[in-house]
Amino acid sequence: MIDKAKVQLEKLTAHRHANRDRQTKSLFDDNPDRFNDFSATSNGLLFDYSKCNLTTETMELLFDLAREAKVSEKREALFAGEAINTTENRAVQHMALRNMSGEPVMIDGKDVMPDILTVRNNMAQFAESVRSGKIAGQGGKFTDIVNIGIGGSDLGPVMATAALGPFHDGPKTHFVSNVDGADILEVLKKIDPATTLFIVASKTFTTQETMTNANTAREWLVKALGEEAVVNQFAALSTALDKTSAFGIADDRAFGFWDWVGGRYSIWSAIGLSLMIAVGPKRFDEFLSGAHAVDQHFQTAPDNENLPMLMALIGIWHRNSCGYDTHAVLPYDQYLHRFPAYLQQLDMESNGKRIDVSGQPVDHETGPVVWGEPGTNGQHAFYQLIHQGTSIIPADFLIAAEAVEPVGDHHQKLVANAFAQTEALMVGKSEEQVRSELAAKGIDADAIDKLAPHKVFPGNRPTCTFMYPKLTPFVLGQLVALYEHKVFVQGAIWNINSYDQWGVELGKELAGELLPVVKGEQKPTGRNSSTAGLVDAFHAMRK
Ligand code: F6P
Repeated sequence: MIDKAKVQLEKLTAHRHANRDRQTKSLFDDNPDRFNDFSATSNGLLFDYSKCNLTTETMELLFDLAREAKVSEKREALFAGEAINTTENRAVQHMALRNMSGEPVMIDGKDVMPDILTVRNNMAQFAESVRSGKIAGQGGKFTDIVNIGIGGSDLGPVMATAALGPFHDGPKTHFVSNVDGADILEVLKKIDPATTLFIVASKTFTTQETMTNANTAREWLVKALGEEAVVNQFAALSTALDKTSAFGIADDRAFGFWDWVGGRYSIWSAIGLSLMIAVGPKRFDEFLSGAHAVDQHFQTAPDNENLPMLMALIGIWHRNSCGYDTHAVLPYDQYLHRFPAYLQQLDMESNGKRIDVSGQPVDHETGPVVWGEPGTNGQHAFYQLIHQGTSIIPADFLIAAEAVEPVGDHHQKLVANAFAQTEALMVGKSEEQVRSELAAKGIDADAIDKLAPHKVFPGNRPTCTFMYPKLTPFVLGQLVALYEHKVFVQGAIWNINSYDQWGVELGKELAGELLPVVKGEQKPTGRNSSTAGLVDAFHAMRK
């Protein structure tokens, strides 16, 4: 961390210690306008952070931290297309993919917008032709699409296709990611080879899981329809177009993107093709427009109204000053059921780092564990721990004002649950309150003594709430881009490179080494006794 930022972080930690016993609920008593003072909006989306244990002084210290960490200078470098991904010597310009302004975006002295628009137009033509049946399989109009990819080449399309379920009027979409054969097998059981389009999504076109699944799909299709089906029923999304043609995919079915689009930031690129086919190019553009609106907001809004900045700084407060290890994302929106999984890659692959940009170990915490499930299901699973456990878990609640497809009073019940949870987490229930409630029920004093401690809620547990009018493509674009820029700001403050992912490499290398051992072609010589023992047990159990 930059020295001056470190000093600022120390001030924040001292501020935290000085206010260790502060109760958020009393901050509401002190300031009836707290909700207005500690909430912000952007393009119809509301972000309420008033239920976090922080004050104007805390926020000022956090804004100073952002200034000392040179967040705005780093943001300028990001949007200027500088090679801020230093270990891979690449720019980070996924924002160009959703640049709807008509303005150029320069990378290495070249305007990248003409190429982006050409690919997007080609995708749109292809998507429309698939949707209309102009491009069809051997058996006629495509009824099913199978996206084969993993990580960023899967999670974005899966999450967004699920989120925009009510807008899905194209062919059925399926997603295969795991190298576990069960994943592809279960999909192949459901589809007709003659009316299925396979989309192989891989930035590198070398990823073991994806290439294994793609080859299995290819063999299955060829077996059913013959070799000539491949050229017609496969498409590819990749930066490695030489490899896609070697696989047998026609050039006009291969949609490219560029090395300055990180895998986990690639939903806006050709990787979004399955989503585009599902909901149509117009809605895909609305999705891009939502993200573009956030890009503009992030660049222009003052810090105290800037949603990604606020999200990031509150996260830093919780992680670095309060010492909270995890961060829960709790969508009260069933359509966002894959959003936490998507954010896990976005946040943890970006900021799960222990070395700073100059190659030195950091001396502070970086990215938290991100996790979550949709409410209200989570309430009946892990909320016990969030309310009464020993760990404090800051949480984001996400809720729409209106359901896209309302059913009776379901939505009001959902909203009441979301509001109830954030209130309960903040206010808690004192022992005094518990005792008087039990006494009012006529419970005797001994029983009250025994039961009361179990029924106390400490409260003071921080939550932020996002409220949006309705989960439209535009709003989904906003939500994803907000979290992307949050991750950027936190990485900038921690002075780490949020855009590489070396931590995924070692496991891949060892899996490559171990495959011949697992296949029985080599002995596990020289390996530790646990791995060697597991290999032996594996072979013995299969006999
Ligand atoms: O898990 C590592 C990773 O490189 C991710 O960053 C990426 O999204 C994923 O693998 C898939 O890579 P590809 O799109 O090249 O198949």
